[in-house]
Amino acid sequence: MDPQQRAALILRDKDKVWHPYTQMSSYRQGADPLLIVSAQGARLHEADGRTIIDGNSSWWTSLLGHNHPRLVATLAQQASRLCHVALGGMTHEPAVEFAEAFAAVCPPGLSHVFFSDNGSTAVEAALKMATQFWQQQSQNFPQKHEFLALKSAFHGETLGATALGDVGAFQVPLAGARRATTHLTSPADDWERSLHELEQQLRTRADHIAALVIEPLIQGAGGMKMYEPSYLKEARLLTSHHDVLLIVDEVFTGYGRTGQFWACDHAAITPDILCSAKGLSGGILPFAATVTTDRVFEAFLGERSRAFMYGHTFCGNPLGAAVAREVLRVYQDEQILLGTVERAQLISASIARLAERPHVHNARSLGMCGAVNLGQGGDYLSDVGWRVYQKALSRGAYLRPLGDVVYVAPPLNIPISDLHELLSVFESSVAEVLDEQPGD
Ligand SMILES: Cc1ncc(COP(=O)(O)O)c(C=O)c1O
Repeated sequence: MDPQQRAALILRDKDKVWHPYTQMSSYRQGADPLLIVSAQGARLHEADGRTIIDGNSSWWTSLLGHNHPRLVATLAQQASRLCHVALGGMTHEPAVEFAEAFAAVCPPGLSHVFFSDNGSTAVEAALKMATQFWQQQSQNFPQKHEFLALKSAFHGETLGATALGDVGAFQVPLAGARRATTHLTSPADDWERSLHELEQQLRTRADHIAALVIEPLIQGAGGMKMYEPSYLKEARLLTSHHDVLLIVDEVFTGYGRTGQFWACDHAAITPDILCSAKGLSGGILPFAATVTTDRVFEAFLGERSRAFMYGHTFCGNPLGAAVAREVLRVYQDEQILLGTVERAQLISASIARLAERPHVHNARSLGMCGAVNLGQGGDYLSDVGWRVYQKALSRGAYLRPLGDVVYVAPPLNIPISDLHELLSVFESSVAEVLDEQPGD
């Protein structure tokens, strides 16, 4: 695209497109956004000819890299036959095949797959399931509709999912509209205190609490906060003991980000409900799944009034289902998880080098995710991460920060040479920003 065409398209964008998480006045005045014309593997192609390494897999979705040829071929093939039908009173092969294959890779005991469109709706469906589940027990639980979540949690953008969240910048404008959730200390901040608070809530208020909802091992949008698998084991034991459901939100952590297929696998636990999206469809289409145990599913059987009265127009979309089925085949055929071992070591070594620099705090990594804080962590409106972003962009990598937390979460199959380049840009950009203006 020539520079005039590029500039004209950006002007039209600024006139009509309202961007997410963006102050549109400064965007319209000063921003020169990336204009992406194509993408392949870990690389994005800018209209001006630049090639940029995607350091966050496009909001954690393109786990197999952009435009994986097998996924693109599957999409085209499926599109030529059937793009969409409603899942009401109808079914189709892609939905059935994916549900079977998905249940087979889920923690044992999870076997009923409810489809929706994205991570937020996967969580929203789980919240509604958990609420209705308790209303339909033979023993009546009229008040068992509250939720426990963790401080620094992020579970999505619908109002129910927002209520579970605890990332200030997202919560403050909606404070009046949020449903009550009790937030426990994050295990990433204080493991023992978190479990103590959980135990106390469950011991004294289990008859009010429908479920504990957690992001397992990594709290993503809350600042890539990481904690030990043993917390999952304890949380599972406690919730089972007090008969409160455990909902695990694997929207970010699932499909191998942490080095195991599910973060739950590190602790060998089965939640009552698991939510999955993003990498589930290889970052190609909006597609999500909420999967449950027999116990949860069976609570909805019987009278017509016991049905789960929830559904999104595009749930189970054949294009998404066909691609999601192929994603699982690619994981197997290309040994994606095995390939993360070497890559995870490179990420962890890079984080260890950064840890030695003054003003770098809480350097951490797990599987295909590595992060450092350049402040106290969690200051979402801090601009230090954005300065790293600008430096990295000028060196050819896209490293969108979470406030003062900078991190890498590239595609799981990023070519090793691209990963070396990404990590070198990451380290040099952090170093340059800190040299210019030391943090605290
Ligand atoms: C753990 C978690 N849950 C839910 C969501 C919401 O997903 P979506 O943006 O697809 O609605 C996200 C998004 O980042 C997430 O990280």
